[in-house]
Amino acid sequence: MSFRIIGTGSALPERIVTNDELSTFLDTSDEWIRTRTGIRERRVISTESLDDLAVAASQRALEAAGIEASDLDLIVCSTTTSDHIMPGQGCAVAAQIGATCPAFDLSAACAGFVFALDVADGWFARGRAKRVLIIAAEEMSRLIDWEDRATCVLFGDGAAACVVEAAEDGLLAMDLATSPDMRALAVPGIGGNSPFKEGERPASVLAMEGQRVFKFGVTTICSAVKRLCMEAGIEVADIDHFVFHQANERILSAAVSRLGLDDAKVGRTLETCGNISSACIPLTLDNLARSGALASGDLVAIVGFGAGLDTGSCLLRWA
Ligand code: UT7
Repeated sequence: MSFRIIGTGSALPERIVTNDELSTFLDTSDEWIRTRTGIRERRVISTESLDDLAVAASQRALEAAGIEASDLDLIVCSTTTSDHIMPGQGCAVAAQIGATCPAFDLSAACAGFVFALDVADGWFARGRAKRVLIIAAEEMSRLIDWEDRATCVLFGDGAAACVVEAAEDGLLAMDLATSPDMRALAVPGIGGNSPFKEGERPASVLAMEGQRVFKFGVTTICSAVKRLCMEAGIEVADIDHFVFHQANERILSAAVSRLGLDDAKVGRTLETCGNISSACIPLTLDNLARSGALASGDLVAIVGFGAGLDTGSCLLRWA
């Protein structure tokens, strides 16, 4: 069994925060952020909720796929920043779009979208589902420390979704991996107020060893693309589009030069949206699909990487 993506959608917050605006309350500059990361601005939730964005992205994906919520057999939502600890973000979307299929959340940080695709593939293989809605919804602005200039300038908020349908072909290769590391990129946890809990309660803000994650990003993209090609029996040059996790322009350009890629084949949303964790990849796919850049039969290589340290990669033939 295999699958194809039959519809994509996305939704971003209204509020645009430029690098210049950040430099009004942080010791940073537009020049530093642009040259070190490639990010010019990001969208940040102010009046909307993450539910609003996840629902809007899902409705757009359903519309693009030409199906109704009642046609869905499963909803998987990749998020680390749900509006609700329970029920999950996927349940909140189901309630608002009128779906009655099973819905749950999946936490694999920036690689979450590919992990969710793999879950859908398993449901297709077991004959449990024909159509799955995959959502990636992230409100990174509630996880980051807005006083830490080394991390808060990197992230943004947003949601993207796609409808995936069981098919005879479409998936050429899929690979998930974890190199366990609880420090490189982490949000320690929820403190709570249990009177019985002893010891320190860590602050629930994102901490990152930037250079460690940077190196991991570059080597992971390169090795994942090579592995996908080997598995599918194709050359890197045969791939029409590369959709990589959007963490830093310097990570993308290092991978482009190491793999000898045609830069025009590499999708980008980083400059205007920053790093939206697992929503980056489906957002980039949605932009490519809506701009008409993805033609039927095109080969698309996807690589997500991040906290875990998790990697999810796959090679798809566009429907
Ligand atoms: O989803 C995956 C998540 N994250 C990533 O993939 C991030 C991967 N890492 C990176 O993108 C880069 O490591 C960063 C952008 C985070 C940092 O870039 P860098 O070139 O590795 O900078 P650095 O950490 O070596 O810092 C260089 C200098 C330091 O100052 P000193 O010690 O040299 O005086 C930092 O304090 O830049 C300073 N700095 C800043 N200056 C202005 C760090 N952040 C900022 C800032 N504005 N926002």
